[in-house]
Formats: sequence, C-alpha cells, structure tokens
Amino acid sequence: MCGIVGYIGKRQAYPILIKGLKRLEYRGYDSAGVALLNGDLKTYKCVGKVSDLEKHTEGKDVQGSIGIGHTRWATHGEPNDINAHPHYSESKNLAIIHNGIIENYAPLKEEMMSRGHKFISDTDTEVLVHLIEDIQQNEKVDLEEAVRIALNEVHGAYAIVIISKENNDRLICARKGSPMVIGIGEKEFFIASDATPIVEYTKNVIYMDDEEIAVVTLDGQLSVKTIKNQTKTPYIQKLEMKLEQLEKGGYEHFMLKEIYEQPRSIHDTMRGRINAERGLIKLGGLIEYESKIVNADRIIIVACGTSWHAALVAEYLFEDLARIPVEVEYASEFRYRNPIITEKDVVIAISQSGETADTLAAIELAKQKGATIFGVCNVIGSSIPRASHAGAYTHAGPEIGVASTKAFTSQVTVLALMALQIAHSKGTITESRYHQLLNELENIPEKVKEVLKADNLIREIAYEFKDSANFLYLGRGYNFPVALEGALKLKEISYIHAEGYPAAEMKHGPIALIDEQMPVVFLCNNQSAYEKIVSNVQEVKARKGRVISIVEQGDKEVKKLSEYSIEIPSTEEPFSALLSSIPLQLLAYHIAVMRGCNVDQPRNLAKSVTVE
Ligand code: G6P
Repeated sequence: MCGIVGYIGKRQAYPILIKGLKRLEYRGYDSAGVALLNGDLKTYKCVGKVSDLEKHTEGKDVQGSIGIGHTRWATHGEPNDINAHPHYSESKNLAIIHNGIIENYAPLKEEMMSRGHKFISDTDTEVLVHLIEDIQQNEKVDLEEAVRIALNEVHGAYAIVIISKENNDRLICARKGSPMVIGIGEKEFFIASDATPIVEYTKNVIYMDDEEIAVVTLDGQLSVKTIKNQTKTPYIQKLEMKLEQLEKGGYEHFMLKEIYEQPRSIHDTMRGRINAERGLIKLGGLIEYESKIVNADRIIIVACGTSWHAALVAEYLFEDLARIPVEVEYASEFRYRNPIITEKDVVIAISQSGETADTLAAIELAKQKGATIFGVCNVIGSSIPRASHAGAYTHAGPEIGVASTKAFTSQVTVLALMALQIAHSKGTITESRYHQLLNELENIPEKVKEVLKADNLIREIAYEFKDSANFLYLGRGYNFPVALEGALKLKEISYIHAEGYPAAEMKHGPIALIDEQMPVVFLCNNQSAYEKIVSNVQEVKARKGRVISIVEQGDKEVKKLSEYSIEIPSTEEPFSALLSSIPLQLLAYHIAVMRGCNVDQPRNLAKSVTVE
C-alpha cells in the first residue's frame, strides 16, 4: 500500500506529482506529501487526501523540476501531519518516500538514537533515511553507495525514492517486495508505484525487480544495479494502458463506471481465447503447463478478499467440470500453517493487483516446495505474474474503485475458461456439454447488459433499506461465494454489517438474527437447488424477515414470497455468479451513495495490500 511518485526533467514537478498521487490514491489516503528541489529542498505534507495537500500548498512555493510525492496507508504511526511522508534525514539534506515496512526499524532506531539521532515521527521510514545519511557521513561514501549499504542492513519490504539537496541532479529509487515502475521520456523520468501516473507522458517503462537500485539524472541517464552491486541492463517495455481507462468518463464514481464496464471487460477477458463456433478455447498461458494441471492430484487456490471469493467459484468450476479436487485458502492462513505441498500440486494465485503481500508470499512458499504456480492477475507486469511459472491475465482494464467489481467477474471468466479447457482435455464433460457451455460463455456479456437494466429498481430497493443496521446474504452452490461477495461489497463501502452464508447453514445460527427489521438477500437463480432455496426463503418469511431475491426471468415461486425481486436472465449454472453478482454490486453502491459514504475510497481500506 501507499502510493509513490517521482519526477525529474525539465517540467514543473508539482502538477505531475499531484496528478500522479490522485491516480495512486487507491493505494491509501491517510495523508499525502511532496518534496521539491529548487535550490532548497522543501517538503509539504498533511493528514488527509491529496486534495487536502493541494489546499495546504496553496500560495506556497512549489517550484522545482525534481520532486517526489506520497499518499499513505498508515502502518507504523497514526495518520497525522508528522507521520506523513516525505521524511527528512537528520540534516534535512535528504528526503525519502517509502511504501512497505522496515521490519527491523526498532533496533536500528535505538542504535542511532544512542548516537545522537533525533526522530520526530513514529514511522519506520524515518529510520531508513537517517540510516542512509549516517552511512554517507561515517563511511564517506556517495549517496548511491550509502543507499546500497543501508538496504543491505534492513529487513522487510520497500519501494523508496530519495531526493537530495547536495546531489541535486538525481533521484535514487529502489524496490523489494513493493512495486515500482520507471517511465522514460525525453531527458525526463517518471517514477511511480504503478504505471497509471506515467501513461500520459510516455509508453516506455521499466518494471524494477526486487533488490534493484536505479539512479535517474537530469541529463537523461538511467543506471540500475542490484543491492549486491551488480550492474543490470534495464529491460524497457511498452505500456498498453490507455488514458481514458483511468478517467471517470461521465460516471459519478469509478465504482459505477466499473460496474457498467462489465459487458466489455468480460468480453475483453475472453477475446482471442474462445471461439464457440469452432469449439475452441486457447489460454496461451496454459499451453506449456496444461498436462501438469490435467494430471494434478489437486489444485490449491490462494487469494485474499474478493479474489478469494472468485477462488471459491473456481472450486465449484474445477470440481464440477474438470473433476479435480480443489482447496481454497486465504493466502495469509496458508503461509503460516505449515501446509503440505508437493511437486505434484498446482497452485493458482488470484489477485487483481498482482501485488498482495500475503498472496505473493504464499506462492513463494509453494514454489520453494516445488509446486507449479499459475497466476490469474489483472495488472500487467505486477509481481505475482512475474513470480509465477505461467498464468493468464484477466484483461479487465485498470480498476480504480477500491471495492472490486469488474475484476471479480473477469477472474471468474478466466477461471471458467481454464476449467472448461482442462475438462475438455480430460474428457470429464461430454462434447455436447462442452459446446453448450462455450456458447453460453460467449453470450454472457449480452446477458450482463440485461442485468444492468435493473439498476433503477435496485436504486429503489437501496432507498428502502439504506438505514438497515444489518444484512444477510444467502446462496447455495455457485451462488454461495456470490452471497459472501455481496456481503463484503456492502460492508466495505456502506459500513453496514452484513454476513454471507450458505442458505442451508442459516438455520444453524444466523436464523436467530431474523426479525421484521432484517433484510435478507436471497440468490435464487440456481436451477439445481431451486426447491431447496424456496424452502429457505419460506423459513425466513416465517420469521418475518424482509426478502429481497435475485431470480431468473419468469420466476414465480420466490417472487411471490419476496418483498422485492430482481430478475436476471437465465444462464448455465457454472456461470451464474457472472450475472448474480452484478445486482449485489449495484445494491451496495446505491446504499453507500445514499448514506453519503466515499464509495471509491472507503475508510481504512486500500486497493493494493502490500503489507502482511
Ligand atoms: C484489498 C482490496 C480488495 C481485494 C483484496 C485482494 O483488500 O480492498 O478489493 O479484493 O485486497 O486484492 P488482490 O489485488 O490480491 O485481488
């Protein structure tokens, strides 16, 4: 988490930094700050969002063509002005911005304090910049060498950029475990946590690798070496991202735009990978490892948050279609419980950002034990795809809203393609069923458009229930993970307490919560368990719960029992999550807007969780 930007070149840095920080605000928004070099080294920082920083700098000197900027998600030290980045060194000759955690900051801080260093913040970051200056002075080395030595002394994760009053023609940056991209222009460089702040200036970028240090200079020089002092030749890649993808395009919020983008994002996920007419699925990333998956004794899927819900859908898909046992794991739990992993295992890591620290660490562990790692990620060039043996990008386009929407449906789409391809190779589904499912998958984007037509009705429902204190979401089979996802969406953006449950499990606990105040969202677009779910709806009705149902067009029974029903097109059961999740996204969105919540940047959350 935390977003970092840097600029060096001929332009004024401040507007570039501010614009870049706004793009990176999804990574955290507890405080923001910049440091600018213009003869003197000035820093401006304050608690709050980037817009608060703009107000804070009004009328102040923000000149300078070299600068760094930071937007923070607090770990060490509460969100306040002092803990905001950038942080100065003891002499104020250096300033640093940092994303990550310096785990051994406490002993380093103690040692430096005993030698007279004074710290003003509670952050781990301030310790690092003091350490760099301390090394520079005591070991009489230049700044780059001091950075290198310091980074060999710290444990943990970092993406850092350092600006110096004395070395006023350069920026020094480094990464380990936290992402960093360098954009290369004409005698100018743009540094950022991801490519979104860079895309409008240049398409030429370098994704830094772990334990690399880069120096970029005013005269257009770029050098990269490792912290072990080996020189590296930077690999320049072309960005595929488009600027329009990063703007709201007339929508009030990114989240709403991203919900409405789903017919296109699901289509983009399938583009070039499926041809129903010819009965073909081709996931390029699978080719080399297909036989490994086909012959796997089991698949382990690791993920966090919404991606973990996509993993649960995948469990149904792989078991149902490809007949491979699947274990779905929270990445954070998987790592710390001494899991049994062998060379025969296939581990699928699902992550929108491709940077989630726990997921990344889980796959590193599985790799060490010899498993084959397959990454399903959205952000091209991010850490998880680079750490995986093979993978498939979801191609949903940049997702800016902190609550994940289109990334989820694209993940489920990729996983459905994978399960179908494997099922076909294994012969676990008949040829005719395979063709039927392929045809239906191609129809999904059109059906999503149909679902979106329920938006006005969903807004009405939101109005009716916006003041509820609790919500229950119930579903069975493929719709159980959707119930979890619906509850998560509501919790994270509207701050209403919500629980997702398997509908039949309700009677083992949550049924005690049901009274005439309790909205219960039922996912009833399953064909196979329809009668069972009707009984569950009856059980809720009998206790005066207020039923909101998601049903197939033409439904009669559940509709009769519901206060509100949202009709969606029927589909093949393995794809039902692709349709039923969408009304729940809209419901959460409208309720949150009506409650005056910041939908795109909910409190305490960040989109990319790069700390454990
Ligand atoms: C954060 C985000 C969630 C996301 C989760 C996993 O908690 O707020 O929306 O689902 O991280 O992120 P990933 O990038 O690995 O999918």
